[in-house]
Amino acid sequence: MYETSRIELSQSALKKNIRFLKRQIGKKTVFSSVIKGNAYGHGISLFVPMAEQCGLRHFCVFSADEALQAFRSKNENSRILIMGDIHDDAVYWAVENDISFYVFDSTRMKSALRAAKRVHKKARVHLEMETGLNRTGFFGTALKRAVRTMIENKEHLVLEGICTHYAGAENLSNYLRIQNQLESFNQQYRGLSEQLARPSLSRVLRHTACSAAMLTYPETIMDMVRIGIAQYGFWPSKETEIHFSTSKNPKQKRSKHHDPLVRVIKWVSRVMSTKKVKRGEYVGYGSSSLVTRDLKLAAVPVGYFHGFSRDQSNKGHVLVRGRRAPVVGMVNMNMIMIDITDVPDVRTGDEIVIIGKQGDNTISVGAFGELARCINYELLVSLPSEIPRVVVD
Ligand SMILES: Cc1ncc(COP(=O)(O)O)c(C=O)c1O
Repeated sequence: MYETSRIELSQSALKKNIRFLKRQIGKKTVFSSVIKGNAYGHGISLFVPMAEQCGLRHFCVFSADEALQAFRSKNENSRILIMGDIHDDAVYWAVENDISFYVFDSTRMKSALRAAKRVHKKARVHLEMETGLNRTGFFGTALKRAVRTMIENKEHLVLEGICTHYAGAENLSNYLRIQNQLESFNQQYRGLSEQLARPSLSRVLRHTACSAAMLTYPETIMDMVRIGIAQYGFWPSKETEIHFSTSKNPKQKRSKHHDPLVRVIKWVSRVMSTKKVKRGEYVGYGSSSLVTRDLKLAAVPVGYFHGFSRDQSNKGHVLVRGRRAPVVGMVNMNMIMIDITDVPDVRTGDEIVIIGKQGDNTISVGAFGELARCINYELLVSLPSEIPRVVVD
């Protein structure tokens, strides 16, 4: 490899995750794969075909530029739904290409209508309902009015879905808030029953659940679920994992020793050089790393430029020859030094695992993230898109 590090994506890990998650949601519910944030750092253009190979045909993105990347990578049967930002010009593009999108206010509704009239195609709309997250969405009479607009403009607009998003389903401390949101969703939805019963409307997909909601509150699983972090092999939080593994729901029961989610991502680099440093010297910039015994060090060409946080200076670990090797000194822009004194026979060119498994040892993003004081989500999406990604079995 010419690059200083690369990210390997495991097709078999993804297959296991999706099989497990599909078992939880049941056969009738559509599995929408959430691929915003460059597919949580995995890379949209590689991840979409991988997910399609596992049978997925629905993708949720945040913005029109992500939709464009997904559009270029997907097969013709797959559908895309934009949940967030779309520049006015991009609404035309979305309508023209059968890309569905959220409508959460009257401005977006007007754009959808305008675009549909101009390109002579129906805009595919998912109405977002406000249930307590207080971000975007219609509430109460505004929602009814939005449905009325859809019905009155049925030759230009298709109501494909009605949806909401929970305010932190990964933390059990939000239990009451989530329950109130669910109740609000069901109540407002019932309030639309007369309008939705019209023969002009085809089946409207209700969707509210993200990974944590789906795993913790099965009652949030409706006609479609929007699954992000879990498909990549990460629990949304430790709480979600513990709650799930101890749940009384038989479908949710799993062995305490077997994790049904497998990391798809592995981040690897290699040893660039090795050297010995005498006791009493310092390593790298500044004086944070006084050497207290004779050391053997290896230079690894990965630094904060590549997403290896400076918070890991003198703290983080990587794997080499199946053993953990600590970071010595400050994380530089392009390089770290690791202590290989206790790892025999390390040579230039040896594989370094920054995230993932090597031998019997694993560095999970969680552990890496804890040290870097950010959660899996934040760490994954901050992996630079320039690091080459490859699919492995
Ligand atoms: C609206 C919406 N739905 C679904 C998801 C997927 O969430 P998760 O990655 O926790 O499954 C997200 C992610 O934040 C989201 O913003």
